[in-house]
Amino acid sequence: MNSFRRSGLLAVTLPGLLLLAACGSNQSAEQSTTTAPAADSTQTKSATMPTSASFGKTPDGTEVQLFTLTNKQGAKAAITNYGGTLVSLMMPDKDGKMGDVVLGFDDVNGYAGPAFRKANPYIGALIGRYGNRIKNGKFTIDGKAYQVGVNNGPNSLHGGKVGYDQKIWEAQPGTSADGQSLTLKYLSKDGEEGYPGNLQVTVVYTLTDSNALRIDYTATTDKTTPVNLTNHAYFNLSHGVSKDVLNHEVTLPADRYTVVDATLIPTGELKPVKGTPFDFTTPHAIGERIAQVPGGYDHNWALNGSGEGQHAAATVYDPASGRTMEVTTDQPGIQFYTGNFLDGSLKGKGGTVYGLHGGFCLETQHFPDSPNQPKFPSTILKPGETLHSTSVYTFGVRK
Ligand code: BGC
Repeated sequence: MNSFRRSGLLAVTLPGLLLLAACGSNQSAEQSTTTAPAADSTQTKSATMPTSASFGKTPDGTEVQLFTLTNKQGAKAAITNYGGTLVSLMMPDKDGKMGDVVLGFDDVNGYAGPAFRKANPYIGALIGRYGNRIKNGKFTIDGKAYQVGVNNGPNSLHGGKVGYDQKIWEAQPGTSADGQSLTLKYLSKDGEEGYPGNLQVTVVYTLTDSNALRIDYTATTDKTTPVNLTNHAYFNLSHGVSKDVLNHEVTLPADRYTVVDATLIPTGELKPVKGTPFDFTTPHAIGERIAQVPGGYDHNWALNGSGEGQHAAATVYDPASGRTMEVTTDQPGIQFYTGNFLDGSLKGKGGTVYGLHGGFCLETQHFPDSPNQPKFPSTILKPGETLHSTSVYTFGVRK
């Protein structure tokens, strides 16, 4: 039985229990501070449906939408069906002021236009068919060799040349006892980017009234295929007040991480973090030891709770705003990436420049290159099986 199936069984036995929420809006980091929740005119809307508005046209002329989910506290999550991308996430700081805690752009051109496509930082997007890297884009299933799209040096990254981050997803806004939601569907055809099987992917974003964003992933296939789905949000809990995230304090409940080669492919070694700059088992500011890690953090941590259903994956605290974020997942790993390739060439919401370490990602996932690492938890999905996976991002404050 593969590890997705196991996580799926957990999700099925806990229906709705873990449902969380996503908040966002299409406001810039500079302009999005709003009044406290009580004065927010959208406050009463959480029992209603998410709103939708045009998010502009892609370069090929396709109009895409921006859906805004709102909860009873006035938190918001804005998601576009282009790439299933989380565009903004409005959460309160320690004084109750709303602020946008993710990087993003004002319209679809920010994501589909030439500057973004050149830098290709996957900001906020859903990632598939295989999040993270596959060595040389090669793997073998049942004796058959496959070559998938190579787009990152010699390797395949985040699904290949055109991943799910660039696809238009079918979108269905909804609501439930847990909060407003957006269901996104994408059929990845047999042979797309070289992957076997028609993969039907469903992702549900839900924003709960307790300021949590839950992302539920489901997938089925008609041929055996590797699958590794994640979300690539870049967080800056200060709402852009701090231009980089080096002061954010991170905890990762992981005693080991996957050692990588020069092209960020795991060697297969799971190395203890103890005594290294990778030890986040107690809180450390991102900037404290980053200089000791050439290039910055861009590694997969093996989560201690792996195999135990929904488990802790990360805690983050931003002293400037008092905001906290807790991440839980049923996945075995988490890629902690500190925006090492952000170079100031991209201007996001309201003209905010995204420079080095301007945001960090916590990509809940299976380990990189698992299809070529028999000792890693399996990413193989077979016909007849259903992949279920859930990751939850819960926001709070510390005064
Ligand atoms: C990868 C980085 C990559 C980034 C792209 C991360 O998930 O680990 O190496 O540059 O995605 O945004």
